[in-house]
Amino acid sequence: MLFKQLFDKETSTFTYVLVDAATRDAVIIDPVLGKMQRDLDALKEMNAELKYIVETHVHADHITGAYDLKQATNAKFAAGVATGLTCGDALLDEGEVIHFGHEVLHAIPTPGHTNGCTSYRWRDRIFTGDTLLINACGRTDFQEGSAENLYNSLQKLLSYPDEYIVYPAHDYNGLSISSIGQEKRNNPYIAGVSKEEFIQKMDNLNLPKPQKIDESLPANLRCGNNKVAA
Ligand SMILES: [Fe+2]
Repeated sequence: MLFKQLFDKETSTFTYVLVDAATRDAVIIDPVLGKMQRDLDALKEMNAELKYIVETHVHADHITGAYDLKQATNAKFAAGVATGLTCGDALLDEGEVIHFGHEVLHAIPTPGHTNGCTSYRWRDRIFTGDTLLINACGRTDFQEGSAENLYNSLQKLLSYPDEYIVYPAHDYNGLSISSIGQEKRNNPYIAGVSKEEFIQKMDNLNLPKPQKIDESLPANLRCGNNKVAA
């Protein structure tokens, strides 16, 4: 197995490249518009061929690089079934998988931050999108967000073994990796927090609207095609 975690400073977004070491078939998770050359260089460095572009959800803070990457590589686009996206090649539900070479990426629906949020497990690594962040979690105040659903989804992720590695979609504090056990112990939205307390906390965050939401959402609902008038 070959693996790369990439970071876009402007939007604090992680992009992940997963490669089967034997066949060199690759999957990329959550690419960012404007970062295609970086991603293509990473694939080239690993002598890999991109088979799937996978999104953890319809992002509100940046436009996905999926459309441009798809044009450049012919890879297929996949996301969670509850995104309702009509531009993708595969919409994944509970228990569904993507095969790349001999490797398997498992879809884990984790609604709450958005309805279509889906985490993905590859071996002992879980790509948690904006559902579980390091010492935090995704907000639930727009895009069909639901604190109750997010609480249930977090419990679902926390049911994986403590040593499983957590790779989130974002980090704003210079961190890049965690584990299920660390989040159980340290995450202030999880450790010792009841469902009622969690909902109360999430409903009172009073966060500002994401800066790029008005351009990001329409483009991401077209799988990153920002060249069509909204
Ligand atoms: Fe998000």
